[in-house]
Amino acid sequence: MWLLYGANGTTGRLFLEVWHKSGIDLPPCMLAGRSAHALQSLAEKYNLPYQTFTLDELSQISLQGEPKIIVNFAGPYAYTARPWLDYCLRKGIAYMDISGEWRVLTDMYAQQEAFREAGVPVIPSAGFDTVIGEGAVYAFRQKYPQARTLHLGVYARGGYSAGTVRSALVTLPHGYFYWERGALRPTAFSGVERRLANGKAYHFWRATLAELVTAPAWMSDLEVLHTWIALPPRYTRWRPLLEKVFAWQPFMDGLLRLVDSQRARLAREMDLEASTCLFVEAPEVPEWLYVASRQPYVVTAWAVLQSLQLFFREGAFPGVQSAFGRWREKLWAGIPGVQTLWKARSSPA
Ligand SMILES: NC(=O)c1ccc[n+]([C@@H]2O[C@H](COP(=O)([O-])OP(=O)(O)OC[C@H]3O[C@@H](n4cnc5c(N)ncnc54)[C@H](OP(=O)(O)O)[C@@H]3O)[C@@H](O)[C@H]2O)c1
Repeated sequence: MWLLYGANGTTGRLFLEVWHKSGIDLPPCMLAGRSAHALQSLAEKYNLPYQTFTLDELSQISLQGEPKIIVNFAGPYAYTARPWLDYCLRKGIAYMDISGEWRVLTDMYAQQEAFREAGVPVIPSAGFDTVIGEGAVYAFRQKYPQARTLHLGVYARGGYSAGTVRSALVTLPHGYFYWERGALRPTAFSGVERRLANGKAYHFWRATLAELVTAPAWMSDLEVLHTWIALPPRYTRWRPLLEKVFAWQPFMDGLLRLVDSQRARLAREMDLEASTCLFVEAPEVPEWLYVASRQPYVVTAWAVLQSLQLFFREGAFPGVQSAFGRWREKLWAGIPGVQTLWKARSSPA
C-alpha cells in the first residue's frame, strides 16, 4: 500500500490517468487530500480507496492501510513538505514528492542525518524538474567529466498548473543563486539568448532551479552550476516591481488565492501534446547537449510511476537523495519520449 496526497490536483489527476492507461503494476494506492467530494469521484473512477484529512489533522489521525511510502503531490511545498516530513520521520515511513522549490529542498537536505539515522528514505523531486534537468547534467558529465562550469537552461512548454505558478510565486522573493563549490551563491538577475535545435532564438533568464540543490548533493565533483529558464520578455519588464509586491505577505496571500481560483481553467488550457526542451553547456568543451522531452506534467507522471516501481522493486537507502540521483539510467530509461542530441558549440545552442 502507498498513499498519494494531493491526488485531486492537476498533476495528481494526470498521474492517475497515465497510470491507468499504462497498465503499470504497482501495489494498491490510497488516494488522499483535503477535499472529500473531489476524492470520492476520483476513487469511484479508478476504483481506489480514499481518506480525507488536512495537514493540520495529520498528527491526530491514523492512516489506513499502513502505507510504505507517502507520495506528496500537494504544493506549494513551502507549506506542505514539513508536516509530511515530520510525520514520516516519526513513523518511519518513506517519503517522495515532486518539489521544485529550492528552499524546501535545502531544508530537507539539512535534515539528512536525522532521516538516515531513522532509516527513512526521502526521495524529493521525482517530477520533470529535476529528473530531466539532473539527467541532462549527468549525461553531459558522462561524456565530458572534465567540464566544471555547467549551464542548464529549461524551456518548459504546454502550460502551467496553478500549483506550479503558486510554487514559483512563493519562491520568487528569495532571490537568484548559482551553485559553486559546496554553496549557493547570490547573483544578479540576468539573461542570455540561445538558439535551440529548432533554429529559433529564445531568451533564458536566471532562475534558482531545484537542480542547484539536488544535483551537487550527489555529483560530488561538480564545481559550478548555473540554471536558466526561458521566459517571455514581458515578464522580465515587470519583474523588479513584482518581486517587491510579492514580498508583502497580504498581497502574496491574495495572489495565491487568485491563482488557485484559476486552477480548473489552467488545467483545461494545458497542451499535453507539447514538447519541452533544455540545454546543457560548459564553456570549456566543444559540444552542447540538447534534450527534448514530452510535456512537463506528462513527464512528471511517468517519472513518478517509474520511481515508485523502482522503490517497490529495489527499495531505497535511508536519507535524502533525489529520485534521479538514486536511480539514474534506470529511471531515465523508463520515461518515454526523451531524446538527446549533441551539437557542436559553433552551431545553434
Ligand atoms: N517538479 C516538477 O516538475 C513538478 C511538476 C508538476 C507539479 N509540481 C508541483 O506539484 C505541486 C502540485 O501541483 P499541481 O499541478 O497538482 O497543482 P494544483 O492543480 O494547483 O493542485 C494542488 C494540490 O495541492 C493540494 N494542496 C495545496 N495546498 C495544500 C495544503 N495546504 N494542504 C493540503 N493540500 C494542499 C490541493 O488540494 P485542494 O484541492 O484541497 O486545494 C491540490 O490537490 C506544485 O507545488 C507544483 O509546483 C512539480
